[in-house]
Amino acid sequence: MEVKTSLLDNMIGVGDMVLLEPLNEDSFLENLRNRFDHNEIYTYIGSVVISVNPYRSLPIYTPDKVEEYRNRNFYELSPHIYALADEAYRSLRDQDKDQCILITGESGAGKTEASKLVMSYVAAVCGKGQEVNKVKEQLLQSNPVLEAFGNAKTVRNDNSSRFGKYMDIEFDFKGDPLGGVISNYLLEKSRVVKQPRGERNFHVFYQLLSGASDDTLKKLKLDRDFSKYNYLSLDSAVVNGLDDATNFRTVRNAMQIVGFMEAEVQSVLELVAAVLKLGNIEFKPESRCNGTDESRIKDKNDLKEMCELLGVEQSVLERAFSYRTVEAKMEKVSTTLNVAQAYYARDALAKNLYSRLFSWLVTRINESIKAQTKTRHKVMGVLDIYGFEIFEDNSFEQFIINYCNEKLQQIFIELTLREEQEEYVREGIEWTNIEYFNNAIICDLIENNQNGILAMLDEECLRPGTVTDETFLDKLNTICAEHQHFESRLSKNSKFLNDHSLPHNCFRIQHYAGKVLYRAEGFVDKNNDLLYRDLSQAMYKATHSLIKQLFPEGNPAKVNLKRPPTAGFQFKASVGTLMKNLQTKNPNYIRCVKPNDKKASHIFTESLVRHQVRYLGLMENVRVRRAGYAFRQIYEPCLERYKMLCKRTWPHWRGPAREGVEVLMADLPVPAEEFSFGRSKIFIRNPRTLFFLEERRRQCLQDLATLIQKIYRGWKCRSQFLLLKKSQIVVAAWYRRYAQQKKYQRIKSATTVVQSYTRGWQARKLLRELKYQKRCEEAVTTISAYWHGTQVRREYRKFFRANAGKKIYDFIIQRIMQKYFLGLKSTVPSMSPIDENWPARPYLFLDGVHTELRRMFHLWRCKKYRSQFTEEKKAVYEEKLEASEIFKDKKALYPSSVSQPFKGDYLEISKNPKYQKLNSAVDEKVLLADVVNKINRANGKGTARIFLLTKKSVVLADQKTGQVKASVPLPDLTSVSVSTQSDGFFALRLKEGSASAVKGDFLFSSEHLIEIITKLHRFGATAADREQLNVDISDEFLVQFKQDKVCVKFVQGAPKNGNSVSCKRKNNRLLEVSVPTTA
Ligand SMILES: Nc1ncnc2c1ncn2[C@@H]1O[C@H](COP(=O)(O)OP(=O)(O)OP(=O)(O)O)[C@@H](O)[C@H]1O
Ligand SMILES: [Mg+2]
Repeated sequence: MEVKTSLLDNMIGVGDMVLLEPLNEDSFLENLRNRFDHNEIYTYIGSVVISVNPYRSLPIYTPDKVEEYRNRNFYELSPHIYALADEAYRSLRDQDKDQCILITGESGAGKTEASKLVMSYVAAVCGKGQEVNKVKEQLLQSNPVLEAFGNAKTVRNDNSSRFGKYMDIEFDFKGDPLGGVISNYLLEKSRVVKQPRGERNFHVFYQLLSGASDDTLKKLKLDRDFSKYNYLSLDSAVVNGLDDATNFRTVRNAMQIVGFMEAEVQSVLELVAAVLKLGNIEFKPESRCNGTDESRIKDKNDLKEMCELLGVEQSVLERAFSYRTVEAKMEKVSTTLNVAQAYYARDALAKNLYSRLFSWLVTRINESIKAQTKTRHKVMGVLDIYGFEIFEDNSFEQFIINYCNEKLQQIFIELTLREEQEEYVREGIEWTNIEYFNNAIICDLIENNQNGILAMLDEECLRPGTVTDETFLDKLNTICAEHQHFESRLSKNSKFLNDHSLPHNCFRIQHYAGKVLYRAEGFVDKNNDLLYRDLSQAMYKATHSLIKQLFPEGNPAKVNLKRPPTAGFQFKASVGTLMKNLQTKNPNYIRCVKPNDKKASHIFTESLVRHQVRYLGLMENVRVRRAGYAFRQIYEPCLERYKMLCKRTWPHWRGPAREGVEVLMADLPVPAEEFSFGRSKIFIRNPRTLFFLEERRRQCLQDLATLIQKIYRGWKCRSQFLLLKKSQIVVAAWYRRYAQQKKYQRIKSATTVVQSYTRGWQARKLLRELKYQKRCEEAVTTISAYWHGTQVRREYRKFFRANAGKKIYDFIIQRIMQKYFLGLKSTVPSMSPIDENWPARPYLFLDGVHTELRRMFHLWRCKKYRSQFTEEKKAVYEEKLEASEIFKDKKALYPSSVSQPFKGDYLEISKNPKYQKLNSAVDEKVLLADVVNKINRANGKGTARIFLLTKKSVVLADQKTGQVKASVPLPDLTSVSVSTQSDGFFALRLKEGSASAVKGDFLFSSEHLIEIITKLHRFGATAADREQLNVDISDEFLVQFKQDKVCVKFVQGAPKNGNSVSCKRKNNRLLEVSVPTTA
């Protein structure tokens, strides 16, 4: 929740002078001092801010403070310049009212600082963004540049503004700054050539000499030593707390930010250097033959350097310092200048050069900071103008400055009254006339077009004939004698004849802020502000572009014989414009007060402040503000602040705030004439009423505080008690729970024990009973079984004897057979015909059945096996079967042949190209083709021969050539002889007398003996159409070799060469084949 505060909270003295009781000058000063002593440098008079210069930095301008005052109502917080800046900015942004901030006060009172604080506050709270920030930065950075060229150290202020400044900051509809326009007023240019004791020239000269690099100084033909320059006073060249060198860098940087080109900066510095050089030009008199004195330049070095800097021809300038040409009615008259006139000309040139440079700077800055858009802008003007000046010796400048302040005072009165009046009208309150001093009469004395002082001064300046300051004073004495604010010894007003405080060459004006004595000397000259045409023309001839620009009247093509407007006239015009401008805006006032003359903190010189309070018209300001009603406040905050004073409005008023305030005021013992109800505000006539309200509020707050404290304490104790109670319940509950849990656990375990014992006992008892019952049941069953058995046996005994034996036998046999077959089903062996397994016979009497079943099963599975065969496979097996019939158990070689398949054609003669010829010689299908050894009977050795068997014949051919050696038709074959051994010998026995038998029988040995013999046996029979071909199996047989019969005998014995069969001829009639012993 936002805490609503008020200016009235924690006030030191009173924050608003309107509330001062009693109101008089002493109480006013005492309040200011009191607040100043407590570092409260700001005090309000209504919406006007009085600012007392603290002369030290206070921690009240921090970003936090900016945030604190941002968007807060004016009277919400203690008085601050930020409150005023915020109010002005918000009415500009939100209500579209152009604002002006008028900062007044005497030199050193803090006007410039205040203007910078306002600008920096506005910069901090307004919009952000790259472009906006650039504008802000340029606006802020224009200050150091103008301060360097327009400020100087004076006895009153180390950084005194020697020009008036009015800056319009322009904003768009969102409140973002767009740019600005600066107007400058009357630079105190006399300072360029002469400074009062203890004061300095403008800062820029010292900054340039201290801060510029050696190189820059060399280019500008300058020396770092201040004492080398006549225009620089030496007595306070160095100022405590002012670092000229650093400031020079700051200024250069600021110029860059503002947008000055490097060449422009250089030109500006050249002009500054030229002014310094100009000051060093000195003149000496030279007598002429006509007896008059003529001036001559003493040392031309400085003139030369200056001319080089500005690009002016030396001779032209030299001449301009010696002669003056006056043009009148097409006539040119040249007169020589004496030394004094030459110095006058030199100083006039320096002053003009500098002041025009300053004006150019302002124009140049304006060019940079001017708003880019052409849309309508909202404007906030900040006026930092020289304050009222009363010196011992007051001259034309003070007159002009004080005139400006008079005008400001007038506008202040006008606007304040107007605002006051407008507020009354706005609020519907009756307007009561306010008595106040209107300084219009003084303004009229000065600016009246017919007989005003300025008009008369101009008249004097323009009048032909000798014009001096005395003639001017005489004129004043005649014309203004009767004016009640004009005082002069020689006036026709006899009142002042004996006034010794009024010297003869002076006149005195009773300004609104006090009487000021002006010395007439210099008025005419300064008003004329004469620069000899020769000099302006010399400057125009310069090659330096900036100089040329600054002296346009030097252009011979535009010679203007009319006198230029006087300084007074110009100033009056610009002040007039300014006033018009200000009148269109909503004014906000900051009235700066200087607490002491020593620039010291913590010192409050009452006389000095009293003087300022008087001439600033602050008391009048308060009176005007209080004339009707001293205090006013919007209904809502007023009700919020005082609602506790009435039971009906406390703590909440549900209705319009105005009615709430009316109820509240009616309830209070305050006379009805003490307040009035406006449309949005309540107006309180006397501060004492407000203080009464405040006091009641304070008491009420105390009571309320006590009440709140009481209620709070009660509430706190009660809450604590309730909390304790609640805690106690929780603790008790937990404890009870815990205790009950424990108890329960104990009971539960005891119960479990008891229960287990009981259950055990019951179970045992039950078990015993059950056991007993079971035994009884068994006994009964047994008894009944026996009894039934006895009964049945007794009953059936007669039938049983006759049939029971056979029936039982049948039954048992049946059961046994059933069991046997079912058992066989699960133990039946595999379907492989060579599986020898067969379950064992269970009962002896089943022997026959068992063997028969085995045979049947074997046959059946063989049948199954055979049924899978293809025709070729079947033929192969038939051959195998035949082989088995022939050889099984007859020849030892047989078993090893069983597993070897009968391939038939081992040579693949049809595919092998080597046997192509042989193949074609045999016209039948080859049933067997193999290489065999034909045994030679002479030595028993074998010769390899191809053995071919077809359906019709046996063909023998050479193994290498395939040439047919012999062909035996199968019918010629009578028998085949083989041994019983495991050898591969066989003899083909041929039919005696057949063609094949001529050469005798054949004896071969082959690795595929079984296959060859089987095939021969098979096809030999078919071919010869006989039953079968004989196969003799014996270890001794006869073989017919041609005419001889040779016995082939097979013996078992250890072979001599390995494991192979060997054949040896033993004699003519015997061939012995030794076969390895079979294991
Ligand atoms: N609010 C402030 N806080 C701290 N110091 C301040 C404040 N205001 C002014 N000063 C000090 O007072 C000096 C003079 O202030 P400033 O230059 O603003 O006076 P001025 O009214 O502009 O005078 P002049 O009319 O001569 O230009 C400043 O240089 C600064 O040291
Ligand atoms: Mg200033």
